[in-house]
Amino acid sequence: MPEPQPVLAPPATAAVFLVVTVAPGGEDTVRDVLTDLPALQRAVGFGAPDDRLTCVAGIGAAVWGRLFQGPRPAGLHPFRELAGERHRAVATPGDVLFHIRSRRMDLCFELARRLCTRLGDSVAVADEVHGFKYYDMRDLLGFVDGTENPVGQAAGAAVFTGAEDPRFAGGSYVMVQKYLHDLDAWEALSTEEQERVIGRTKLGNTELPEGRQPGDSHVALNTVTGPDGEEREVVRDNMPFGSVGEGEFGTYFIGYAREPGVLEEMLENMFLGRAPAAYDRILDFSTAVTGCLFFAPAAGFLDDLPDRPAAPRPAAAADPVPDAPAAGDGSLGIGGLKGAPVR
Ligand code: HEM
Repeated sequence: MPEPQPVLAPPATAAVFLVVTVAPGGEDTVRDVLTDLPALQRAVGFGAPDDRLTCVAGIGAAVWGRLFQGPRPAGLHPFRELAGERHRAVATPGDVLFHIRSRRMDLCFELARRLCTRLGDSVAVADEVHGFKYYDMRDLLGFVDGTENPVGQAAGAAVFTGAEDPRFAGGSYVMVQKYLHDLDAWEALSTEEQERVIGRTKLGNTELPEGRQPGDSHVALNTVTGPDGEEREVVRDNMPFGSVGEGEFGTYFIGYAREPGVLEEMLENMFLGRAPAAYDRILDFSTAVTGCLFFAPAAGFLDDLPDRPAAPRPAAAADPVPDAPAAGDGSLGIGGLKGAPVR
């Protein structure tokens, strides 16, 4: 298998999740940055090898054909929005994901800054989240998150594409969703009730035994099996984030899988339910505000990109933006001074 990007990175305590959309005409710059990613990462992380700075780049379905000629990854498509009876998994804009991880936030931040400097006006940042590991590897709901991730060879088998799509072997599908928690409502539950929502004990972090595991718990609905009865697995590296002043408490969900169908089956169970469960109870306390799907190709793909599409869409003229600011300075016109009266 070709060498993958650092999808199975060593445990990190900090992350920046940067999702950007590519502006018309920005394709060449984005291609250059993708190819230079290892060098950018080295420049920031080389002096601090113990802090294990890594970055995975994922490419979305809508931009793939604008960036590269030739075939596309077999399973790549836009994030499929789900509307359940109570809860909704929204699809939001996102062409490229940079998943930056380290043991130090300053390294993540610096790499994100250099990426954005290089990308300049070729992209607009759709979403940026700075995540941290919370004590005991807990999420902000207070439960240990990540325990049942596969490790070692099983992790590789769960996340990397292989012979089923040989041109894209060593790649991985990656789904992200930013969730905001209603901590007041959550904390109004007893610990036992919270444990029934998650499906594990809070302090001891053990799975509730069969018989005590509700069908609508998060763990029950995310345990999915294939036709042979084997469990279908993904690798998650969620991070809490938030702002106490704003009353914002969140979990940034990120899941890698060999094919997107397994992540989508989990999401369908959560939002549309799986009999007899109507939906995942975690959603009564967690609202998804973003949703994107990407493919993170093998490292060698980024190093030696396929050519640009034969007939590139004309720059700038491709997608005229109605009511775009007339400034012509490349900015989005956001910020206090834009439109202010000239004195
Ligand atoms: C609000 C966002 C979420 C939170 C706070 C959360 C938290 C948790 C926690 C605490 C566990 C139990 C411990 C463990 O990690 O094994 C867990 C398990 C799991 N979660 Fe989530 N999760 C979230 C969203 C998702 C989403 C969107 C998916 C899939 C699309 C997912 C897939 C899974 C899977 C596969 C397991 C392991 C189930 C098992 O085999 O025991 N999670 N999650």
